Amino acid sequence: MRPGFLWGAATAAYQIEGAVAEGGRTPSIWDTFSHTPGRVRDGDTGDVTTDHYHRCREDVDMIGELGLDAYRFSVSWPRVQPGGKGPLNAEGVAFYDGLVDALLERGVSPVLTLYHWDLPQELEDAGGWPVRDTAERFAEYAASLGEVLGDRVHTWTTLNEPWVSAFVGYAEGRHAPGRTEPAAALAAAHHLNLGHGLAGRALRSVVAETARLSVTLNLHVVRGADPGESEAVRRLDALGNRIFLGPMLGDGYPADLRDDTAAITDWSFVLDGDEQAIGVPLDVLGVNYYTYLLVGRRTGEPAAETASPWVGCADLELPPTPPPHTEMGWTVDPTGLEELLTRLHADHPGLPLMITENGAAYPDTVDADGRVRDADRIAYLDGHVGAVRRAIDAGVDVRGYFVWSLLDNFEWAHGYSKRFGIVHVDYATGRRTWKDSASWYRDLVRDSRGRQAASGQDL
Ligand code: FCB
Repeated sequence: MRPGFLWGAATAAYQIEGAVAEGGRTPSIWDTFSHTPGRVRDGDTGDVTTDHYHRCREDVDMIGELGLDAYRFSVSWPRVQPGGKGPLNAEGVAFYDGLVDALLERGVSPVLTLYHWDLPQELEDAGGWPVRDTAERFAEYAASLGEVLGDRVHTWTTLNEPWVSAFVGYAEGRHAPGRTEPAAALAAAHHLNLGHGLAGRALRSVVAETARLSVTLNLHVVRGADPGESEAVRRLDALGNRIFLGPMLGDGYPADLRDDTAAITDWSFVLDGDEQAIGVPLDVLGVNYYTYLLVGRRTGEPAAETASPWVGCADLELPPTPPPHTEMGWTVDPTGLEELLTRLHADHPGLPLMITENGAAYPDTVDADGRVRDADRIAYLDGHVGAVRRAIDAGVDVRGYFVWSLLDNFEWAHGYSKRFGIVHVDYATGRRTWKDSASWYRDLVRDSRGRQAASGQDL
């Protein structure tokens, strides 16, 4: 990779911190949701998880030993601004302040996400993302945090995967807050977009001039189940990708998206000036990629609308994708990542990209000799790093790659049943054990840096 390419690992606050009732933190929608019977597998919650809140130093040391250039983490909004409004909570801010300084001491660049799904519960009680006020509260939170950390954070990411927040949270209901209201999901998507734009603008005026502004999207690589499915592909591309890419990159909402969803909403929540506000200039676009999607036309009865995040698409179906699968049931296909990067580059020339999440869950075990032999995860990561290299060779401007995840953690509705870490966590004791993939990744980063020093640009 070119000089300045960032090799990193990613985590998110609710998935790793624990300490949910400490230091003045108030509940988020994920506390409420995970404590609601039947919502998360085995009744798991993020109450303790990896206990990163108390083991932060140890984890940062590990990041240093891995030799990473950057660490992507998220800030728990209700930890730094309990209740989602008013002044910041000094104790909550001190935690992230210490984390950022500890990273910098080890030469690791902090890549901060402001919102990785943990909305303060009070804001959901007031209507959540379907209401405009939440976008305004988010911008205030961003500005306040920018004032205290803006001198040291390398990249500010406003939102993580707003598609999941809007459609899995408000239409499918499989994630917090667990609502199944298609019109509300579209309004949520708009207010997430607006929150991004308002927060981005507010950050620009308070953070260092060198700081990068970003957002992370889970862009969908949509393929037709049969050759002739281009219309279904177009619809999912509008609802899954262009609903964010359009306004965030300054082009407003796509006309076909508005037409496709006209039976669900009249889009009257988009006020004059909103689309311009959303299109705040970005320094880099974060891309999360795990697998691709197949779409075809449903035969027989239409699906129940509320069962799907794909609002208004009851006439479509997403057939299973072929093996090999990870433990999530996701097909391993690095060509999807290459295709995505190449397309983004073609559609948006000049827009730098960064892979902010990529990784795999497998049923890891610690062997008697203390090793975790996760050859399948190494193969997955190796294949996807190869796809990134091919995209770069083809001229795509990719600035970094972050493994999901540094640690095994609370995998949302799957609870602790899925392990994505390159470091194993024993949840009973909190003990961390490097998997083989962690050593592999450390070597990859070291070798890449060596080649870069020798040739000036190699990955
Ligand atoms: C992404 C999320 C991340 C993690 C991975 C597996 O959608 O951003 O928190 O759950 O999937």
